[in-house]
Amino acid sequence: MTDPDLATKPTLRGDLVTLRPFTAEDGPLMGEILSDPEVRRLTGSVASTEEAETPQPVDERLLDWYASRADQPDRLDLAVEDAATGRLVGEVVLNEYDADTLTCNLRTLVGPRGRDRGLGTEAVRLVCEYALGPLGLRRLTLEVYDFNPRARRVYEKVGFVPVATHEAALLFDGVAVAATEMELTADGLSPAPR
Ligand SMILES: CC(C)(COP(=O)(O)OP(=O)(O)OC[C@H]1O[C@@H](n2cnc3c(N)ncnc32)[C@H](O)[C@@H]1OP(=O)(O)O)[C@@H](O)C(=O)NCCC(=O)NCCS
Repeated sequence: MTDPDLATKPTLRGDLVTLRPFTAEDGPLMGEILSDPEVRRLTGSVASTEEAETPQPVDERLLDWYASRADQPDRLDLAVEDAATGRLVGEVVLNEYDADTLTCNLRTLVGPRGRDRGLGTEAVRLVCEYALGPLGLRRLTLEVYDFNPRARRVYEKVGFVPVATHEAALLFDGVAVAATEMELTADGLSPAPR
């Protein structure tokens, strides 16, 4: 059996979004998207409202990160573009590749200019179809905080099912937040509505 080719970065086209490899030019706009307080809070990147409202610095580290995404052999980071405008609005990522179980973790984020218009759902569905189809992964896993019902709804629409709950996965503003672990296999993938 051949290993999944995570080194090749595909372009995946949907009706609402295009997923494409990152380039060095994407760093500054990703910095803006990662500075959005909602993104910071809901992805568990910060532990307080004050930190969420502190912008992500667009420094060498961040610029190098996005400039090097296309060269990673063991993970797949794709930019999410709004197909209507061509504007970068977020990312989808397959990371934590496990060769024994052919599993990756999925994470995603969409900034304020892209949210609540169906773009996130299509982006997640496109990357899952690719991952569990041509790429050859068997299973995708993720964690979603219980204070993020929108993301959970998106994952459920695509076919993810809950498999475990982790109490106090995050302390935000001193309050414990649980996280639900979800997973998806090719059999569970729900088709896009026509
Ligand atoms: C999660 C995220 C990727 C979803 O993308 P999106 O483009 O905003 O979502 P969509 O418009 O495709 O779909 C949102 C769905 O959630 C539903 N929804 C919105 N707010 C909701 C809420 N408070 N409770 C339950 N469902 C909600 C919408 O009605 C829609 O479902 P529907 O199509 O059945 O009506 C995006 O909002 C995001 O990145 N948010 C910030 C960071 C984040 O949460 N990342 C995920 C971490 S696990």
